Amino acid sequence: MATRTLPGLGLPTSVGFRDMTEVRIEQPEDADGVRRLLEAAFDGEAEARLVAALRPTHAWLPEFSVVAEENGRLAAFALLSRVMVGGEEALALGPVAVLPERQRQGLGTSVVRDALRRATEARERLVLVLGDPAYYRRFGFVPAAPYGITSEWSSAGDAWQVLALRPIEARYPSAWRLV
Ligand SMILES: CC(C)(COP(=O)(O)OP(=O)(O)OC[C@H]1O[C@@H](n2cnc3c(N)ncnc32)[C@H](O)[C@@H]1OP(=O)(O)O)[C@@H](O)C(=O)NCCC(=O)NCCS
Repeated sequence: MATRTLPGLGLPTSVGFRDMTEVRIEQPEDADGVRRLLEAAFDGEAEARLVAALRPTHAWLPEFSVVAEENGRLAAFALLSRVMVGGEEALALGPVAVLPERQRQGLGTSVVRDALRRATEARERLVLVLGDPAYYRRFGFVPAAPYGITSEWSSAGDAWQVLALRPIEARYPSAWRLV
């Protein structure tokens, strides 16, 4: 397995998994495999419909649609797409999906880390996610509501989470240097 380190953060991120797994950007010919993967990972077709609805919109960022391929089959998927937060561009993480027979073996972590690394390198600032905090806190996500970030999902409590990909600088006027 090949690993590399996130610049500046010192966090390891997997780029290969076993010798047969390749974590990479989704290609046009992968769309059908992504749909099948989403339908296999989730109960129902809602997540596959979400992805299909995002594809033709400005929210779809092909450089942040990450798949893990194993022996010609897509085994994991993580998507970052465009959202606006307080008038500024940000990203939403999801869906994240792993084939049922390949779950809990690190593939979900690999595709999420790879997508976050790509967003960090692209100087993106914020990522939002709606999901189980027990899973997403390993990537650094924290509850978003205490930061005053709201959406139609704010009522989801700690499942509504945010991750700052780079420092958000506060600048004080010079008067503060007198204290
Ligand atoms: C959730 C999911 C993406 C995680 O990916 P994965 O490859 O199975 O998980 P990983 O191997 O990367 O990580 C395993 C860890 O995550 C935890 N985990 C796995 N699925 C979890 C879930 N649904 N909720 C909370 N924790 C979960 C495991 O307990 C394990 O914890 P540990 O590292 O402390 O032992 C995957 O299981 C999946 O596709 N599930 C069905 C679809 C889904 O619920 N997607 C998430 C919502 S968008």
